[in-house]
Amino acid sequence: MHNTKMIAQDIHWVGGQDRRIERFENLFPVPNGVNYNCYLILDEKTALMDSIDASATEQLLENVSELLNGRTLDYLVISHMEPDHCASIVQLCQVYPELKLVGNKKSFQFMEQFYEVDLKSHYQEVKDSDTLCLGQHTLRFVYAPLVHWPEVMFSYEESKGILFSADAFGSFGALNGNIFADEIPFEKQYLNEARRYYSNIVGKFGVQVQSAIKKLAGNEISMICSLHGPIWRKNIDFILGKYDSWSRYIPEENGVVIAYGSMYGNTENCAHVLATMLANRGVNDIRMYDVSKTHPSYIISDIFQFSNLVLAAPTYNSGLYLPMETLLHDMSALNIQNRKCAIIGNGTWGPRSGELMKKYLEGIKNTELIADPFVIKSSLQNDQREELEALADAIVESMK
Ligand code: FEO
Repeated sequence: MHNTKMIAQDIHWVGGQDRRIERFENLFPVPNGVNYNCYLILDEKTALMDSIDASATEQLLENVSELLNGRTLDYLVISHMEPDHCASIVQLCQVYPELKLVGNKKSFQFMEQFYEVDLKSHYQEVKDSDTLCLGQHTLRFVYAPLVHWPEVMFSYEESKGILFSADAFGSFGALNGNIFADEIPFEKQYLNEARRYYSNIVGKFGVQVQSAIKKLAGNEISMICSLHGPIWRKNIDFILGKYDSWSRYIPEENGVVIAYGSMYGNTENCAHVLATMLANRGVNDIRMYDVSKTHPSYIISDIFQFSNLVLAAPTYNSGLYLPMETLLHDMSALNIQNRKCAIIGNGTWGPRSGELMKKYLEGIKNTELIADPFVIKSSLQNDQREELEALADAIVESMK
């Protein structure tokens, strides 16, 4: 059965949900599923803003067919060639043989890499700032390279100021009927997943996100239609502000993320003792994670949110405990900056993990190590309490 919703005059949401998916990109857990947005503009010409993932192709085709009501589909605008938005391109061309695929040079290059079918006769190549007039609605294309793939292109609908923003401003999580961010308790229900989506999928490309935000300045935006998550039509500055902070790697809040790895609970104990010391000093927002248990995407998301980070891990095979190494690698790959860090290393013989974590952090831009690594041998000893209290003092001081 078709399932659509009008979001503005002549513009309809025609997307779909996937709650069966376990991991987005087969990598990130999505316990609440994923929403894939597509939008259909019914004007003198008809245009579909992006296609969809294979899991929702049938729903998309049904939605589009219902709304077209016998008309043909003239354009498919391709903002992003990742397969979660492109799996139905070939089928759409089969159903609508006159369909023009609107993309840029790179979109078509990627299309040919992904799909062996020759679709060249459908191509309509556009460049940055080109426009496409559909009748009452004109789309202006705004290249947004590396937000988060190189071919990404926003479309700005000029008559109403609607921004079709590709993956930008998106979120993990399927929708539950309501489609607008202002209809739902966004901060309670989606903000953490929007941050986890941003930090893990787009986080590396802060500079490019900043460029895209600057490029859009001066255009009145009345609505943001992302490819994932709810649509923004009110309080748009809220999500723009979040993107501005995230892309400049500026912490949203004072707080401490404590990420620890622990083989037999001794490093974990030290992390807990430190957490209690921080709590005793009035730190309210402390988030603790066992790196062996929690998927790094959640920890990365909290690192984007908070000002301070404590990493605690044992030495393993003369190196670093692997789940901690994964987290540090991820932090580096995602370009995390401007965090104040402390380290707790452990080792029964030859404890090296503290120094190794320090070395990792030194390679991560603009991270400040606020104290030398605190090292325990096998377990925290009573005579180390004072030194750990000093570390707690230094962390609290750094939060001022
Ligand atoms: Fe939602 Fe980058 O694909």
